[in-house]
Order: sequence, then structure tokens, then C-alpha cells
Amino acid sequence: MKIIKNSSEGIKEAAEILSADGIVAFPTETVYGLGANAFSEEAVTKVYKIKKRPFFNPLIIHVSSYDMATEHGVFNDSANKLVKKYWPGPLSIILNKRKSGVVSSATASLDTIALRCPSNTIASKLLKELKKPIAAPSANKSGKLTCTNPRDIFTKLKNDINAILDGGDAQLGLESTVVDCSEEIPRIVRLGNITLDEISSCLGYKIVTDLQNKKKVKSPGQLLKHYSPDAELILNQNEPRKGDIFLSFGPHPTGIDGLTLTESKNLVEAAKNLFTSLHILDRLSQERGGPPIKVAPIPSNGVGAAINDRLLRAAQK
Ligand code: TXA
Ligand code: MG
Repeated sequence: MKIIKNSSEGIKEAAEILSADGIVAFPTETVYGLGANAFSEEAVTKVYKIKKRPFFNPLIIHVSSYDMATEHGVFNDSANKLVKKYWPGPLSIILNKRKSGVVSSATASLDTIALRCPSNTIASKLLKELKKPIAAPSANKSGKLTCTNPRDIFTKLKNDINAILDGGDAQLGLESTVVDCSEEIPRIVRLGNITLDEISSCLGYKIVTDLQNKKKVKSPGQLLKHYSPDAELILNQNEPRKGDIFLSFGPHPTGIDGLTLTESKNLVEAAKNLFTSLHILDRLSQERGGPPIKVAPIPSNGVGAAINDRLLRAAQK
């Protein structure tokens, strides 16, 4: 496993590894991706194996431009409206799939494809260098904590992947908002930094979500238990006791172990710090023999809805 520095030679090297069907963890503005050449059956199969991801759960296909996206998905009015406003950026859209070089295992043999054009400049340069789409789920084992920095990827995946392209901490810290535009009425299948209200206002009407509908899991990855640390998470805790491991929102209480997501109760900052903080507190819990991590209540406005979505799934037993 090699850590590749961000430079034009580094990006060339990472693209060469991808071309040779290797697996490279690379930065995006949301979280790190576990990248594979989307045209290679061998590379895509490796990603599923490394993540221990069920083969029915499709990957997001990353592209360098709208034009590249149109080779793989059938755009309609709603998709065009959304990508015009949010691409490049933290939005994935699900479209009907075209017959293209993207191998069918990457989309779990579905008739649809999730496409994303990232704004992170390293991701964008890597895609342009490779000249092919990159299939990339979040860089973590299936169901486990997402990684938003190279250190956590190194700890969790060093024996499984060929390289990490080092882009420092991910700017946003939560996976992209996923909107299914493959049917007449678009639906949000995963919340992210782009909120439900923002998607609704871009489309011009109130959009629905499938998120609380446990019976109808439209997006195979949105199973209830997900994003989980090894330690148990206990949510909505207001009064931590001495000896507890506590993840706070706002100034961290004195004399209590743990850390805060944000001193200033800034939800965007809390989102950015969420997974890194959970990795740190999970390690602390392991050192102490596995006590739970208690988490302060997080407001549900704005990006708070996406933070609470992740926490709820992470806390599922
Ligand atoms: O921010 C992100 O989206 C990151 C970075 C690396 O881009 N990627 C990411 O990928 O979070 P992953 O695999 O962890 O999550 C992809 C989600 C899953 O819930 C999957 O089920 C859903 O998107 N998905 C992908 N293709 C789909 C499709 N054709 N139909 C329905 N859901 C799909
Ligand atoms: Mg994931």
C-alpha cells in the first residue's frame, strides 16, 4: 500500500494504478472514495470484495463532466435542472442507464445508474487523467464508519488497497445527497449537505423522500444499520457523567472525556467533523474495553437532518 502525494506526477501514478485494475482511495469533497476503473470487471469485483459489500448494492459512478455523464445515463428535465445547479458537487443522481462501457456489476445489474461529478480538484484531475469513469463507494468496510481522511483509511484498509491519494481532510464530511431521477417524480434516497429544501426549491416543488420507508428500500444501500462504529452509540444525551465518552455539540463540558463536533454550534462544521470524531472516540472506547459513546442532541434543521440520519443508522443495533 502506497500513500501518494497530491502532485501532477502523483495523479498520473494513481491513474496508472486504476488503469491496471488496482484500487485507489481518493479524496472527494464529501468523503474519500474507494476508486476502481468503472470499465473493468476485475477492478469493480475487487471493490465489492474489499468492502465486503453485497453484490446487490450498486456503486456511484464518478465522471469528470456532464458530457461524460450523458454517455452513461439518460438525462431528463429534473436531472438537468439539478446538475445545472449542483455539479460539480456533492450530488449524485440516479438515471436510467445507457448501454455503455460501465460494467454491469458496478450498477448491480440494475437498469439505473448513479452518477456524480465531484468538485474536489484532485478527484477531477484524476478523472481527467484516467479518461474513464471511476466506480467509487465510500472508503470503508460495508456498514462501518465512513472515512473522511487518509489516516483513518490507512488504519482500516491498508492491507486491502493499492494506494491512497492524499488530499487531506474531506471538505464536507458527509456522503453526497442522492436523488433518484429515473422515474417521473424524483425522490431523495440519501440526505447529504444539499438539503431536502434546496432540492425542492431547485425543482420548483416539494420533493418526497423514501428515507423513513423501511418496507420499500429503493436504494439498496440505505439499509437501516449503517455507518457504525464498533462501540455502541447512545443518542440525544444531555447530561454526560464523569467517565463517559461524550460527543458534544457546542462547547465541550469540562471534566468529561470526548470532544465536540463544533464549538460554535455550526451544523456544517459538525458535518465535516462527524466521522473523524467518531473514529477517534471509537478508538478511545476500544482502549477502555468498549464502553458506549454518548452523543448530544443535534438540531435537525439544514444539514442537521443528514447528520441525524447518519447517527440514527450508526446507532442501530
Ligand atoms: O459522496 C459520495 O457519494 C461518496 C463519494 C466517494 O462520492 N460515495 C458513496 O458511495 O457514498 P456509497 O457506495 O457508499 O453509497 C452509494 C449509495 C448507496 O446507498 C447505493 O445503494 C446508492 O448510492 N446507489 C448507487 N447506485 C444506485 C442505483 N442505481 N439505484 C439506487 N441506489 C443506488
Ligand atoms: Mg457508503
